[in-house]
Amino acid sequence: MAGNILIIGLIISEPQLHTPMYLFLGNLSCLDSFIVCTILPKMLACFLTGNGNIPLWGCIAQFYISASLATAQCYLLAIMSYDRYLAICKPLHYASIMNTKLCIRLAVGSWINGFIGMSVFVILISRLVFCGPQDIDDFFCEITQIVKLSCSETKTIELVLTIFASINTFLPFTLTVTSYIFIIQNIMRIPSTMGKKKAFSTCSSHLIVVSMFYGTLMLVYVVPKTETLRALNKIFAVFYTVLTPLLNPMIYSLRNREMKGALRKFLKKCV
Ligand SMILES: *[C@@H]1O[C@H](CO)[C@@H](O)[C@H](O)[C@H]1NC(C)=O
Repeated sequence: MAGNILIIGLIISEPQLHTPMYLFLGNLSCLDSFIVCTILPKMLACFLTGNGNIPLWGCIAQFYISASLATAQCYLLAIMSYDRYLAICKPLHYASIMNTKLCIRLAVGSWINGFIGMSVFVILISRLVFCGPQDIDDFFCEITQIVKLSCSETKTIELVLTIFASINTFLPFTLTVTSYIFIIQNIMRIPSTMGKKKAFSTCSSHLIVVSMFYGTLMLVYVVPKTETLRALNKIFAVFYTVLTPLLNPMIYSLRNREMKGALRKFLKKCV
């Protein structure tokens, strides 16, 4: 939270950082902070009290908000990699393609897409009949657990869920990977070894975050459930809800030279 809030503050207060790349990073930090807010308080409460029950309505609310934010994050990561692709591979056209209008449209689009898309599930879930126990023994709610509690027919909702989750992860994932493949191709053409190394180190850390986020997301939502995987779900959930918001600011922003400069300026002002 501290890292993400710091990044948002720096980006808003520093006019030098009002470029597409940093505005997207600011949006990513915003998303990460919200995701942490939806999961972590309940998780900490569970660890402290040892009582991990969430009522059904709480579970649906938590699922709706965290899944919408996670979907938005998928698209935002794809947009960020596309932005880097344009900057590195098409530097002469970058400013004309990634103008303010497109930048705002992409950022707003990823948020709206997440929240509207997930509304479909809330509508579908509201039609289900729940006649058994109405508590969920977990600090983190996912839709498959909610569906399991229902005594209505759930084949349709499970099918819609799988299709939806597949589209929303594979589409941005493919876009992200394709952008990075082009970026790496371009880096290979840099003649100096030093330049190559530097570009690769940035790229590889981005790729680690992206693949960790998508990998765990796919394991939770796309891969069919077996008993062993189900037991591991909590751990995967910790990965993409707690670990990525922690690592994102470190990997994307705080290692960055311009960002460090802005931070130094800010600290000087404070002192
Ligand atoms: C998110 O992106 C939009 C559009 O580029 C930008 O106007 C806004 O300032 C960004 N938000 C943050 C917190 O950086």
